[in-house]
Amino acid sequence: MSNNTLKFYQENASTYATHKSRPNSMLFPFLERCKAGGRILELGTGAGVDAQAILEAGFKLDATDGSSELAALATLHLGQEVKVMMFDELAATDTYDGVYACASLTHASKEDLPTIFEKIYRALVSGGSVWASFKVGSHDGTDSFGRYYNYISKEELDAFWKQAGPWSSITYESWEGSGFDEVPTSWVAITASK
Ligand SMILES: C[S@@+](CC[C@H](N)C(=O)[O-])C[C@H]1O[C@@H](n2cnc3c(N)ncnc32)[C@H](O)[C@@H]1O
Repeated sequence: MSNNTLKFYQENASTYATHKSRPNSMLFPFLERCKAGGRILELGTGAGVDAQAILEAGFKLDATDGSSELAALATLHLGQEVKVMMFDELAATDTYDGVYACASLTHASKEDLPTIFEKIYRALVSGGSVWASFKVGSHDGTDSFGRYYNYISKEELDAFWKQAGPWSSITYESWEGSGFDEVPTSWVAITASK
């Protein structure tokens, strides 16, 4: 991942924080798969909009982000600390009932994805689930803001997730949407259970 990605979120944290006003609708079916009242890890929480919905649904939450500026804003928003943590620093084992990563791992360098997915598998308890969304494409690159994206195909994503561990189930959803850049974008999300 290029340093320009985190530089963008550091320098534009306040503007970015106003971009998302409502939680991701796909969060709620994911939470139904997770043990009620269980512990969720969020990777790349941003301004904490989905994090707030996770807490309001009665879960315990470890929210994390690589941008100290966004983590500080989300900490204020949530009233609980958001840890400054890069994806590849995840070191938990058998800890989480759910790992949630909305539009965040799409910034991880493609070569780092297999290791990050293994770390997510290791961090989940048996029966725990992960939900993560990605911008779809055929090769990685940067957007008009200089942010790096792995722009991955569903097939390549599927191969990486399957290498990460013996999941009991893996499903995908695809849709057409957009993002902060307001460019029409193809998205894919994985839901997998350990
Ligand atoms: C597109 S935003 C999504 C934020 C939030 N999940 C949402 O849906 O609004 C991507 C987030 O991932 C974080 N991020 C990017 N690269 C990261 C990395 N390598 N490690 C940790 N966080 C990272 C950014 O700081 C940013 O908050």
